[in-house]
Amino acid sequence: MSTRGRFLVFEGIDGAGKSTQIAALTAWLQTQGVATVTTREPGGTPVGEAIRALVLTHEMHAETELLLICAARREHLLTVIEPALAAGRWVVCDRFADASFAYQVGGRGVAPERFRQLDEWTRAGRQPDLVFLFDLPVATAAQRRAQRDAADGHTECDRFERESEAFFAAVRAAYRVRAAQDPQRYCVLDAQLPTERLTEIVLATVAQRWFAPKTRQPPSQGVAHDG
Ligand code: TYD
Repeated sequence: MSTRGRFLVFEGIDGAGKSTQIAALTAWLQTQGVATVTTREPGGTPVGEAIRALVLTHEMHAETELLLICAARREHLLTVIEPALAAGRWVVCDRFADASFAYQVGGRGVAPERFRQLDEWTRAGRQPDLVFLFDLPVATAAQRRAQRDAADGHTECDRFERESEAFFAAVRAAYRVRAAQDPQRYCVLDAQLPTERLTEIVLATVAQRWFAPKTRQPPSQGVAHDG
C-alpha cells in the first residue's frame, strides 16, 4: 500500500458546513502545487454513485445499508483513492469510514462488531492521514439544513436528512467517540465558528502538518528522540 499522496477526510452531521471547507482546502492545495482529487462517499465512482442513489432513497435494513455503503467504499478505494495516492495525489474526501461508524452503528444501531469486521475488509488498512470533524449541536445543524433547503428551493429531504434529532445526536456522539480514540488523526472543529475562521483553521492545520519549513533540530541534549 503506497502512501505517497495524503488522504484528508471531512466528517460531520448533515448541515455541519463541510462542503465550503472542502472547496477552500482543495483550492489552497492547488496553489501549493499539489495535485488533488476531490471526491465523496457514498459515491466517487459510477457504481458508488448508483449505490448512493439507492441508499439515499430506498428504505432498507440497517445492515443492508452498511453493506451497500461498504461496497461503494471498496470500489472507491480500489479504483480512485488508492491509485491517486500511489500517483502522489492528495485525496480530499467528503466522508469515509467514520461516517459508517457514526450513522450506521451510532445512528441506526448496527452491532459494532459487524461494522468492525466489514470495515477491516473494506479498508484493508487504509486510514485517512487527517480527519476534520465538524462538530455542532444537532438543533443548529437542523436549522442550517432548513435554511439551505429554503434558499435552494429544495423541498425533498433524503432518508438521512429526514431523521430525528435523537438520531443526529447519536451520530454526533459516535463521531466524537471515534475522534477521542485517535486525537492525532482527528481535528475536531467547532462548526459554529464563522466560515472564514474555519477555513483559516483547516488551512493552518494542513500547512503546519505538511508545509511548515523544516526547523533544524537543536543539538541533542541527551534526550532520546524517536525517528
Ligand atoms: P452527504 O454527501 O454528506 O450528504 P449531502 O449531499 O446531503 O451533503 O452524505 C450523504 C448521506 O450519507 C449523509 O446523510 C450521511 C450518509 N452516510 C452514511 O450514513 N454512512 C456512510 O458511511 C456515509 C459515507 C454517508
